[in-house]
Amino acid sequence: MSALLLGDIASDFEVEITDGHWAILFSHPADFTPVCTTELGMTAKLKDEFEKREVKVFGLSVDPIEDHRAWIGDIEETQGVALNFPLIADPSKEVATAYGMIYPNVDNTATVRSLFVIGPDKKIKLKIEYPASTGRNFNEVLRVVDSLQLTAQHKVATPANWAHGKDVIIVPTVSDEDAKKAFPDGFRTLKPYLRMVAQPAG
Ligand code: BEZ
Repeated sequence: MSALLLGDIASDFEVEITDGHWAILFSHPADFTPVCTTELGMTAKLKDEFEKREVKVFGLSVDPIEDHRAWIGDIEETQGVALNFPLIADPSKEVATAYGMIYPNVDNTATVRSLFVIGPDKKIKLKIEYPASTGRNFNEVLRVVDSLQLTAQHKVATPANWAHGKDVIIVPTVSDEDAKKAFPDGFRTLKPYLRMVAQPAG
């Protein structure tokens, strides 16, 4: 089975992915490991930010559920926050294999740090991958969700280092005539293919 790519329909994992919701599925290499402990704590701390964006978050490792249960206490103790999202146990590696989270040249059994953002249409919108030794930046995860949600609604793209509230780019497939209608407050043309506009609301 080949791994899921951007634009593919996401396979269901544990529970059916609910239509109409954004979801994040992210793997961590192993339970009772230091970087993973901090990542899960950080994700739990950002609960309000994920809820604001209507994103349901699911963690996953190929460890068994009994290990998850035992480890959750450590996360609360060391990170000062209770786990508040599902942590999928995938000892059969069914989900990890379907999502291509195992890189045999890195490790035959554990996953790397894969993170998938799945849209309300159940399609995979974004995928990021880190090695086990590098913890992810969850502010960046929120930033890319903001970009994905904005660009799903408006014919815009987000430039390098964009953050919510900053100017965006009108996609090149929109004519100047249509851009004038869509953005009546105006836009700046730096090049015919590079037109900047204030971030649309919503
Ligand atoms: C960690 O989460 O700290 C970790 C997991 C697997 C390999 C190396 C580090």
